[in-house]
Amino acid sequence: MIKKCLFPVAGYGTRFLPATKSMPKEMLPVVNKPLVQYGVEEALDGGLNEICLVTGRGKRAINDFFDTSFELEHQIAGTDKEKYLSSIRKVIAQAKFSTTRQSEMKGLGHAILTGELLVGNEPFGVVLADDLCITEDQGVMAQLVEIYRRSNCSVVAIQEVDEVDISKFGVIAGIEEEPGLFTVTDMVEKPEPADAPSNLAIIGRYVLTPYIFEILRHTPPGKNGEVQLTDALLTLAKTSKVLAYKFKGRRFDCGSVDGYVEATNYVYENIYLKDESR
Ligand code: G1P
Repeated sequence: MIKKCLFPVAGYGTRFLPATKSMPKEMLPVVNKPLVQYGVEEALDGGLNEICLVTGRGKRAINDFFDTSFELEHQIAGTDKEKYLSSIRKVIAQAKFSTTRQSEMKGLGHAILTGELLVGNEPFGVVLADDLCITEDQGVMAQLVEIYRRSNCSVVAIQEVDEVDISKFGVIAGIEEEPGLFTVTDMVEKPEPADAPSNLAIIGRYVLTPYIFEILRHTPPGKNGEVQLTDALLTLAKTSKVLAYKFKGRRFDCGSVDGYVEATNYVYENIYLKDESR
């Protein structure tokens, strides 16, 4: 059983300055819900209710968001505005939260290793909240958990991307075992299109076995001088097994202004306007 889900939320969000100067990028709303709430809801949908937040300086708003606001609750209790709190109340009731801080920005791999304190020696999910994933039924984390249950090895979510976008992602090469499910044979972090082993890009959803921590401890800085999760996963793929799964659903890059606007329009039209309880 996987219970824990790690959220690396210490990043600066420079692409959204000045909005993110004093507000975490994970608190940017897509319509009326912050990105991090979508991520936690997706984890809960996959049965992961122990949420481990790797935060940093200036990220206090995230912890406050997942705490009860007594003043606010008191103010709107019994009024017709109470319905606006129902989704976050549900999250708070279902999830347990723990936090640690990443004191230096040394890359995604370093953030994951910082989370070892909260995760311990068990398999866990990872959600990068600025990749917003919208699915028709099962969330992406639930899809990965299902594959983990069958295979007992680490799984990454992938999607096909255009050549012009390839250098924004970790890219895999693999052997297709069944439609959409690959055994990873190679992995490169943000390659130039000419060096990319395929057009299958990693998106921000992972299920990892705890052995990844041991590998990360010995992974030297890679692309951009940062400790890359992709490099550690390649070591894991070579020594045991890593699967890559073409998830069902849509992914929006909410770390970029274009992707964020696209996500906002999509969620507004396809989810918000159709929600009768709003
Ligand atoms: C991270 C990972 C990369 C992955 C991407 C998905 O990069 O390092 O392998 O493809 O997330 O969004 P980042 O976008 O944080 O630079």
